[in-house]
Amino acid sequence: MPTPRILMCPPDYFGIEYEINPWMNVAVDADHALANSQWRGLHDLLVDSGATIELMAPVKGLPDLVFTANAGLIYQDRVLLSRFHHTQRQGETPHDRAWFEAAGFEVVDDPQVSAGAFEGAGDALFCGDTLLAGYRQRSDALFHQAIGALLGVRVLPVELVDARYYHLDTCFCPLAPDEAVWFPAAFDRYGQEAIAAAVPKLISVERGEAQRFACNAVVVGRRVVTNTGCPKLHAELARRGYEPHETPLDEFVKAGGSAKCLTLRLDGEEAAGWRAPP
Ligand code: ARG
Repeated sequence: MPTPRILMCPPDYFGIEYEINPWMNVAVDADHALANSQWRGLHDLLVDSGATIELMAPVKGLPDLVFTANAGLIYQDRVLLSRFHHTQRQGETPHDRAWFEAAGFEVVDDPQVSAGAFEGAGDALFCGDTLLAGYRQRSDALFHQAIGALLGVRVLPVELVDARYYHLDTCFCPLAPDEAVWFPAAFDRYGQEAIAAAVPKLISVERGEAQRFACNAVVVGRRVVTNTGCPKLHAELARRGYEPHETPLDEFVKAGGSAKCLTLRLDGEEAAGWRAPP
């Protein structure tokens, strides 16, 4: 099996400098030393899980650059660059572009395709051959149709109805082509039905664990890595033959992010119905 490749960005300049989601409060800044050790803990756990970590250089004044999930959507050797909804994050794009170009990805950034906002793997996750795509909070539904046409994949747009679960990866996590973790209350009734029809095996998390970012998990092989405080999900994952691991990420929760947000899988997620070209 090829080595899983994951992009991360060290939290040198991470902090709560603005408020663009309900988790962020500029009066409650992150503890710098603690954020560093928590990020390192995640990094080391992923290395221990068999992943190769590639690094993007941190940039002063871009506190959310650590959330590499939002850099773009990877599809084989192409990356669809994000178009951030909030001006506060738009300065990240040139750095994301430079990293992907240097890494040899074909950067797709067609203004025809990219009319409107799109926040990359934060809002678009493959489960089998279907790309589930969250809209309304950060990404535009129109954009999703363009992605489907461009990549030739089936896109299932789902509306995100709760501002606390503003990215799809805060409330939905594919584990395998036919299995995912989700927090149903983050979707409307129609979205719940559409997801249930598209993904045969679903594990629901309770509100208390959703608030611990249980759905914001990194999957490497059979390992599933989350923030601490998700014991019910972990028990269910173990029962289903997964290997759950926890690592504290509270400093990043202050920014509205956790394990998955801090990573971008470069070679194709386990749950995706495609693999990176050799
Ligand atoms: N503060 C960041 C924002 O609101 C957090 C991003 C979390 N990333 C994610 N993939 N959910 O944009």
